[in-house]
Amino acid sequence: MISSTRLDGIALVVGGGRGIGQQAGFSLAEAGAEVIVFADLNEESAVSTAEESKQYASNKNYRTASIKADVTKADEVQNMVDFVVREFGRIDYCVNSAGIDNGVHTPVADTDIDNFNRVIDVNTKGLMLCIRAQTAAMRRQQPKMFKSRSGERDIGRGAIVNLASANSFAGLPGKMCYTVSKHADMALTKMAAMDHASEGIRCNAVCPTWVQTPLLDIELQKNPQVQAEIAAVVPIKRAAKCEEVSDAIAFLCSPAASYINGTSLVIDSAVTTTIRLH
Ligand SMILES: NC(=O)c1ccc[n+]([C@@H]2O[C@H](COP(=O)([O-])OP(=O)(O)OC[C@H]3O[C@@H](n4cnc5c(N)ncnc54)[C@H](O)[C@@H]3O)[C@@H](O)[C@H]2O)c1
Repeated sequence: MISSTRLDGIALVVGGGRGIGQQAGFSLAEAGAEVIVFADLNEESAVSTAEESKQYASNKNYRTASIKADVTKADEVQNMVDFVVREFGRIDYCVNSAGIDNGVHTPVADTDIDNFNRVIDVNTKGLMLCIRAQTAAMRRQQPKMFKSRSGERDIGRGAIVNLASANSFAGLPGKMCYTVSKHADMALTKMAAMDHASEGIRCNAVCPTWVQTPLLDIELQKNPQVQAEIAAVVPIKRAAKCEEVSDAIAFLCSPAASYINGTSLVIDSAVTTTIRLH
């Protein structure tokens, strides 16, 4: 392992109770994070994930905690960030993975307004509230230095990684609400990167297509045809494993990524770069 991909700081994983967020926490633990706080609307899953993370931790001082938070509520998001700073002193890495997809396919003309509001509320306003509170906390802490082969470099005050999507760049028929929310998530990522780079805060996004999560398993049980659709559209012929996304998240948090800011790391085996002829 290149030493600059090792972590040693304090992490907050929002939406960390399940799916990609859960695996992101495990990847950060493996990479050496000293503390991981798992936040989720579902408190039970955050508690059990925090416990499970201990088996993956490589830092001998590893500690973990969990907190219930609804990302759509500004006071709960602030409380979540304040909790990490109060208990552990600072926040070095934030992963924002809370998100929903209605599972419904409808053309734009049939959009259900309540559904549109709900998806935007969680995926976009929720992400904005998280980034807002996280950058505000990070800008108050001291920057860190990293000792590399060529000497020391400033790696800044903190790194944020957001779960955007391949739908941040391309639409999926019938998926307007989700696609709009994920385009906006990429804009939020770029804006935070731009506004806070001079304060030593990096903000990037990972943009996967289909990932093998519990949600996909449920969809496959309901509609096994989805497996064939994935095989037809995805050049590698399968959904991504969660770790294939979460390990990239750990990289973006690490000193190895200290000059990477405002970027979208598309993790799609070339789905979005392929023009399909048949
Ligand atoms: N799974 C995929 O194929 C895929 C692909 C591209 C992008 N993404 C994005 O990755 C992120 C995670 O997806 P996933 O598949 O792991 O989903 P998931 O449903 O397995 O996990 C999401 C977690 O977020 C939590 N959550 C939901 N609403 C919340 C709220 N209001 N406040 C706090 N926590 C909340 C849930 O309780 C859950 O633990 C989402 O933003 C999603 O849009 C997923």
